[in-house]
Amino acid sequence: MAKPIRVLFVCLGNICRSPAAEGVMRALVAREGCNEIEIDSAGTAGWHCGKLPDERMRQAARARGLDLNSRARQVMPDDLEKFDLVVAMDESNRRDLCSLDPEGRRTSKIRLLCDFCSQHDNREVPDPYYGGAEGFEQVLDLLEDGCAGLLAHVKSHTH
Ligand code: 4NP
Repeated sequence: MAKPIRVLFVCLGNICRSPAAEGVMRALVAREGCNEIEIDSAGTAGWHCGKLPDERMRQAARARGLDLNSRARQVMPDDLEKFDLVVAMDESNRRDLCSLDPEGRRTSKIRLLCDFCSQHDNREVPDPYYGGAEGFEQVLDLLEDGCAGLLAHVKSHTH
């Protein structure tokens, strides 16, 4: 079998957006039977390490048939070596990732999720943590769009 493509989703806390991105992408990949893609998520901050995703995010995801049960971890410089694509939720995450790669050797791997959206023209997936329920729905809408585009991108580069 060909070497798997490794995709890492990154947000700030790894308890709202990036674990949801991981769940959305896993469901898409399972539905399409694309088992050559490996998926993980991490946060630029380590505050919530070891925790399950935020209950509000889990509930919104559950309503769309997604069970989010990953445990938060902090992104490591080594992740930029190990993963083929490192997908940031917002510009601040992207900058923090770039600062882990000061020589810029891995910059081309670091992308924004919204770059893969075709149904939304948002530039970022907004941080829902301090807002209301609608923020979590918006996150999932953007992730469903962006992950579909991301999967098409990965497939077009592997087949
Ligand atoms: P995330 O959301 O980056 O999508 O996981 C946040 C989670 C926690 C905090 C901020 C954003 N926080 O400040 O603890």
